[in-house]
Parts: sequence; C-alpha cells; structure tokens
Amino acid sequence: NPLQGAQFVLAAHRISQLPPDHGAEVAFAGRSNAGKSSALNALTGHRGLARTSKTPGRTQQMVAFSLPPKVQGEGLAPLQVRLIDLPGYGYAKVPPELREHWKQEIDGYLHQRQSLRGIVLIADIRHPLKDFDRMMLDFCFATQLPCHVLLTKADKLSRNQSAQALAALRKELVEGGTQATAQIFSSQTPTGVDEARDVVVRLLNT
Ligand code: GTP
Ligand code: MG
Repeated sequence: NPLQGAQFVLAAHRISQLPPDHGAEVAFAGRSNAGKSSALNALTGHRGLARTSKTPGRTQQMVAFSLPPKVQGEGLAPLQVRLIDLPGYGYAKVPPELREHWKQEIDGYLHQRQSLRGIVLIADIRHPLKDFDRMMLDFCFATQLPCHVLLTKADKLSRNQSAQALAALRKELVEGGTQATAQIFSSQTPTGVDEARDVVVRLLNT
C-alpha cells in the first residue's frame, strides 16, 4: 500500500497554519458525516489515523497527514507528499461564524494552494449531490483541478442499488459538464479501496 506510511502532521484552524505549500497534496472534501475521515483511514490502512465519529462535525480543522517524501534526482530536495482532511460542510449545529470561517478558509485553500493536485469528494451513496458537492465540482471544473467522487457507505445499499446510484451520478456529472470521475466505495466492507487509492497515488504523482 503506497499510502501506508501516512502520519499525522498537524491540525490547522487557518490556511497559514498548514505545512509549507511545497510538493504535492490531495484533499478530502465532503459534507459533514459523509465519511471523509473513514475513507482516509481505509486508504492509508490505519484504523485510527483520522478521527471519525457518529456525531457530524467531528473534523473541525484542516488535518494534514504526510507520506514518506519522494526521492527525486540528485541535488533535488525530496518531494513532500500530503493528504489533507478538510472540515465537513453543511452541519447545521456549527455556529454561523464558524461556518463562515470554514467557507472562507476552504475557498482560500482551493484558490491558493499551489501543491493541491486534486480533490477526493466524499458523498453518501444514499443521498444525491447537495449544494456543497456541486460547488466543489463546479470549482474543480472551472480551475481544471481533477476531482474524483467516492460514493461511500455503499454497504448500506444492495449491489444493484449501488450500481444505479453510480450510473445516475455519472449521468449527472456528464450533463453538468464536469470532468469528475466517480466510483462506489465503502470504508466498512471495504469496497473500492484499491481503485480509490490508485487514483490518489496518480494525482500525487502529477
Ligand atoms: P466530519 O468529520 O464530521 O465531517 O465527518 P466525516 O465525513 O469525516 O465522517 P466520518 O468518517 O467520521 O464518518 C461518519 C460516520 O459514518 C461514522 O459513524 C462512520 O463509522 C460512518 N461511516 C463512514 N464510512 C462508512 C461506510 O463506508 N459505511 C458505513 N456503513 N458507515 C460509514
Ligand atoms: Mg472527519
């Protein structure tokens, strides 16, 4: 597992506290309770790496995880590689000031972060895309940032229902003119983990 060496680096309340903007990183975004932290744990193969919770709004920070730096050519510093767990969006009980704060920080992060190579957008397979998900897809398309959607918690549906949900999403992505890709995922069973990991590794290498 090429993501296995992931380690917690820091939890940031604002962009300026994130690790230096060098190297390559992939960010995990999605609505509160969608399963972002669980997906990160499944992909890295560490059960307790990112904190997960039944209570929505668990991740109220931008959490940075580092992967072993990639050795480059002679005379070049090793390339820093990171995964970022973004705070969940759309949780009603988060105070309005905090919600506004995260809206601005995530927006700033997406616009400014030079090392950002792509977004993994996590969405519950039982719910259609919400405003936040659409905004993320539109942003990625507008800035030509790769986006890969994980339709997670697929273990809650039958195979057939999951396949239908994926087909419906793909149709919506094409009709919406986005270039995002999508797959079925479950951190629990687990399902689609190798496929998702391949995508993340490919993004980190671009
Ligand atoms: P916030 O940090 O609050 O934004 O949430 P998050 O998106 O990081 O979600 P988290 O990974 O903490 O998971 C939320 C809840 O969903 C937890 O109770 C998880 O156990 C559950 N969960 C996550 N992924 C899956 C999955 O693939 N299948 C099932 N059945 N439950 C899942
Ligand atoms: Mg979380």
